[in-house]
Amino acid sequence: MENFTFYSPTFFAFGKDTENEAGAYVKQFGGSKVLIHYGGSSAKKSGLLDRVKSSLEKEGVGYVELGGVMPNPRSGLVYKGIELCRQEKVDFILAVGGGSVIDSSKAIAVGVPYDGDFWDFYSGKTIEKALPVGTVLTIAAAGSEGSGDSVITKEEGMLKRGAGSNLIRPKFSILNPALTQTLPPYQTAAGITDIMAHLYERYLTNTKEVEVTDRMIEALLLTLKHEGPRVIADPDNYEARANIMWAGMIAHNNSCGVGRSQDWSSHDIEHELSALYDCAHGAGLAVTMPAVFRYTMEHDVMRFAQVAVRVWGVEMDFAHPEVTALEGIRAFQSFLIGLGMPKNFAELGAKEEDIPQLVKTLCYGNGRTGSIGGFTTLKEEDCTKIYQMMV
Ligand code: NZQ
Ligand code: ZN
Repeated sequence: MENFTFYSPTFFAFGKDTENEAGAYVKQFGGSKVLIHYGGSSAKKSGLLDRVKSSLEKEGVGYVELGGVMPNPRSGLVYKGIELCRQEKVDFILAVGGGSVIDSSKAIAVGVPYDGDFWDFYSGKTIEKALPVGTVLTIAAAGSEGSGDSVITKEEGMLKRGAGSNLIRPKFSILNPALTQTLPPYQTAAGITDIMAHLYERYLTNTKEVEVTDRMIEALLLTLKHEGPRVIADPDNYEARANIMWAGMIAHNNSCGVGRSQDWSSHDIEHELSALYDCAHGAGLAVTMPAVFRYTMEHDVMRFAQVAVRVWGVEMDFAHPEVTALEGIRAFQSFLIGLGMPKNFAELGAKEEDIPQLVKTLCYGNGRTGSIGGFTTLKEEDCTKIYQMMV
């Protein structure tokens, strides 16, 4: 195991009706004037936004609102949010929504106290200051409710990039699984896929003897394998939703990733797809991961064989471990297709003729110097082949 530091200071309130305490938590964590940031229509339609506002009013906390965050959140609204917060002297940002709303909130939080362009932090500059952020989560997926990451798309060039710092980990996150019951099945499935991707990105490591985190990841994958089909068949199943929601947090606050190298090539390859085609991040990952895994499998066949046996129930073929490994990848892809996820470019709405453009931004956009990946190093020609495997 490698040396590591781990700091995950988010306070979690989990369970039914917990959103009614949002105002009290804002107060507890020092907020006196809040920006309520939200998405398109779901939080309004469900009445969640009104409940959150009532809880702020009950505590005598003032607020302003900014809605309209799109999935794959854009820089334009971030600039608007930064201006609004400065004008209104906002000192706390409350995200009510999914990963996109939370990431947009984090971007506003780093932009408000900074004199330059907030995009600098999405181009590699170190974050030194941020307004505090709290969240009321409405979809189990990105894990942004417990992570120190934020992913934003810059409209100019449609460049999708991330920023990371412990300073943007939420101060508190409210997780009520019942709030996810209004999700369309496709979004539920895309969320489950993203959670599984966060686990696989960490599982694909070159660090030896990391049994505790290997076993934690396997336990979470097994949980999702069990709960995924259950929740698609029965969207109102609170217990299934609860297990998925907590799995989503643990999968990405990095408790499963400490002390080991990680991959993240599937995420990098996918981010170009959701930037260009505006597809759901999880749906893009469902198409990307099997191709990346098949392409990189030879680098460490036993790692893929291990997850095939321990999670996907494949029998170990000691004479031909590559057969076991491939069988595991096949089982994972069938599972995702069974949830309703796409399997290729056509189903995702992606086009083969765009591959050169996808590869160019992937390998060189925003200061990258030609390669991605922590498990194997993937260069331009590798990424081209991977995208071709997805057609
Ligand atoms: O805008 P509304 O109307 O709320 O609709 C949303 C949106 O269309 C809808 N939705 C959310 N909660 C709902 C609901 N509909 C009905 N009922 C509810 N309870 O679902 C759609 C997707 O929402 P979004 O926030 O985009 O989903 P998700 O949480 O998957 O976030 C995706 C974004 O997070 C980034 C992705 O790249 C993508 O931009 N990621 C962020 C990470 C992080 N910050 O740590 C890590 C991830 O790997 C990921 O890259
Ligand atoms: Zn993800």
